[in-house]
Amino acid sequence: MFDVYKVRKDFPVLARSINGKPNVYLDSAASAQKPKCVINKMSRVYKTAYANVHRGTYALADEITSEYEKAREVVKKFIGADSEKEIVFTRNATESINLVASSWALENLHQCDEILISEAEHHANLIPWQIVCQKKGCRLKVFKIDDNGAYLPQEFIKNLNERTKLVAVTGMSNVLGTVFPIKEIALAAHQAGAKVLIDACQLAVHSSINVQDIDCDFLAFSGHKTYGPTGIGVLYGKSEILESMPPYQTGGDMVDKVTYQKTTYAEPPARFEAGTPATVEAVGLGEALRYMMKLGLDNIAAHERELSAYMLQKTSEIKDFKLVGTATNKGGVFSFQVGNIHPQDLAYVLGKEGVAIRIGHHCAEPLVNRMGYTSLARASFGLYNTKEDIDAFVAAVKKASAFF
Ligand code: ALA
Repeated sequence: MFDVYKVRKDFPVLARSINGKPNVYLDSAASAQKPKCVINKMSRVYKTAYANVHRGTYALADEITSEYEKAREVVKKFIGADSEKEIVFTRNATESINLVASSWALENLHQCDEILISEAEHHANLIPWQIVCQKKGCRLKVFKIDDNGAYLPQEFIKNLNERTKLVAVTGMSNVLGTVFPIKEIALAAHQAGAKVLIDACQLAVHSSINVQDIDCDFLAFSGHKTYGPTGIGVLYGKSEILESMPPYQTGGDMVDKVTYQKTTYAEPPARFEAGTPATVEAVGLGEALRYMMKLGLDNIAAHERELSAYMLQKTSEIKDFKLVGTATNKGGVFSFQVGNIHPQDLAYVLGKEGVAIRIGHHCAEPLVNRMGYTSLARASFGLYNTKEDIDAFVAAVKKASAFF
C-alpha cells in the first residue's frame, strides 16, 4: 500500500525547515524533489564505476556502459516501448521536441503542410513548430480548448485534414492540469495521415504511460520532473521513424564510418546521442523510474487524486479564490488567482510561510493570456505531498488574503 508518510522519508529535502516552518513543496510541476535512492545511486556510480560510455574496454568503462544501457531498458519498460532502440537520451523534453523538429520535421514537412497543436501547449511544444513553419512554409494551426481548460474534440477534428502532417499535443497541461485523451487524438490523427507527438512532461509524473497502447509516433519527457536528475530527458520514437531520420547533432559516438570525404551514421538511438552523454544522469533517471514503478504508478495516481479532491474542497472555502483550469479530467496542477492580489505578492507571503509555489506564465504565455491573465500562481503536487501540505497552503493563502 502507498504510505505517503513513509514515502516522504525517502526525500531528504522535505525534512528541512524553511523560516522555522515545515517545507511545503508545491512546485513539483516545475521540478520534483529527489529520493535518496537516486542521490545514492549517482553518488555510488561516481565513486565506484565512472568512466566514459561506449568507448573503453576496461572494467570501469564496461560497468558504466552497462549501467547506462540498463537505464535505457528501465525507460523502455516505464513507457511500454517495443525496443530500447526507440529510447533516445536527450537533455530534457525541450531538447527531445527540438530534435523531432530539426530532424524529422525539417526533412518531411513541405510548403502548405500543417502542424496542429492545442491552445494548452508549453512553449517547448510551440516554438519549435513555429520555426519549422517559418523555414518550410508550413502552417501552424492551434485548436481551441474551452474556458474551463477542457479538451474540445470537435475543435480538434475541425482542424484536422489531409494537409496535417503532425499533431503535437500535451498529455497534461502544466498550467491547467487538463489531461488530454491522447489515445483518441492519436487515432484520429493517424486516420488523417498525420504523425503524433506527445509532450508527456507532466503526464509521465502522474500516470502510467504505454506508448504502444497510445500508438504515438514520438513522446517526450524530462528526468527532473520524474524524480530524477536535471540534464536528462527522453525522446521515444517508433523504430521505423527514428531509422529514417537524419542526425540532430553530429560528433562522437553517433557514427558508423567516417572518412575525410564522407560519414555514415550509427543506427538509433546512438545516431541521436552525439558526444559524451549525461551518463550518470541517465543512470539516476533509471533509478528514479524504478522507484516510481516500485511505488506503483496507479498508487501514485490514486494518492494524487485524493489530494486533488481535498485541494478542491479546501480552496472552495477561500474567499475570492479563483481556480483557472477546471476540466473534469484534471491532474494535480492548480493555477489560481486570489482576488486582486498580484501572484508575486502572494508567492512572497507563501514563501515566508514555507510554502513553495510557482508564479508567472509557466512557459505557456499564450495559454495564460487565453485564459484571461498575464500571470498566475500555481500549486502542483508530487507523490510526496500530504493533506497537511494543503492545509498549510490554504492557511498561508488566507493569511496573504487578509494582509492584502
Ligand atoms: N515547465 C515547467 C513548469 O511548468 C518548468 O513549471
